[in-house]
Amino acid sequence: MGENGERVAIITGGSKGIGRAIILELAEPGLQIVFNHFDPPEDGSADETVSMVEAAGAHAEYARVDVSDHGAVKEFMGGVVERHGRIDVLINNAGITRDNFLMRMKEGDWDAVLSVNLKSAFNCIQAAARTMMKQHYGRIVSIASVVGIQGNAGQANYAASKAGMIGLTRSVAKEFASRNITANVVAPGYIETEMTAILPEEVKEAYMTTIPLARAGTPEDVAGAVKFLISEEAAYITGQVIHVNGGMLMA
Ligand SMILES: NC(=O)c1ccc[n+]([C@@H]2O[C@H](COP(=O)([O-])OP(=O)(O)OC[C@H]3O[C@@H](n4cnc5c(N)ncnc54)[C@H](O)[C@@H]3O)[C@@H](O)[C@H]2O)c1
Repeated sequence: MGENGERVAIITGGSKGIGRAIILELAEPGLQIVFNHFDPPEDGSADETVSMVEAAGAHAEYARVDVSDHGAVKEFMGGVVERHGRIDVLINNAGITRDNFLMRMKEGDWDAVLSVNLKSAFNCIQAAARTMMKQHYGRIVSIASVVGIQGNAGQANYAASKAGMIGLTRSVAKEFASRNITANVVAPGYIETEMTAILPEEVKEAYMTTIPLARAGTPEDVAGAVKFLISEEAAYITGQVIHVNGGMLMA
């Protein structure tokens, strides 16, 4: 990563689940972690994440910022540059589901999922890119989903948002390659987090039958792939989709 001195990594949706696991995987002295979340104000998850990072000897700070709000993201990123001077890593992880079959899907549920999952990545990349271009260095990783590649009945909005993230990432990879900025996607399969805890038992069992490695993934499984993509070892990898799905889809 970057030059000597403190490096800066921004993770969206870092209060819990996969975002928190990514933060803990990256946490090391010399790395300033900045994350956001959009949990209810009384939820203490973001503070718990900070305590866990500090226990690992690193620094973390956060703000409650809606990633779908272009202006709010610009202000958040501007604040990071003002305080810390640079942005080495951007992880677009925040995401939501509003599942329903297409014929029953409300317009609001389509718009919410596309805004939080896809427009957010545009907002964050655009806000971070100027700083990364000036540095001639940047690592961008966006968390999509196996559903963005193979589709899923009842998740047309979510699948579209995750497929869109892949097209966005590949365009960004081409636009910014000359500035030594890489952009890649990690596409998880079925991972145990709050997002999937709400699924009915029969749906979880049906997923399990499709996984050759015969277990659900953990947030740490995903975090390991993200850590690799921002490492020096991955300096020549850009515009790619890394699948972390236990073999559920072999693409
Ligand atoms: N859990 C899975 O099986 C799975 C599989 C594939 C992909 N993913 C993707 O991984 C990412 C993380 O999922 P998770 O399972 O950890 O979810 P989670 O529900 O456990 O955590 C979601 C995080 O996103 C934040 N967030 C939600 N809306 C936001 C908004 N408008 N602005 C800012 N932050 C917001 C939440 O505050 C939280 O920190 C998502 O993009 C999800 O689509 C998850």
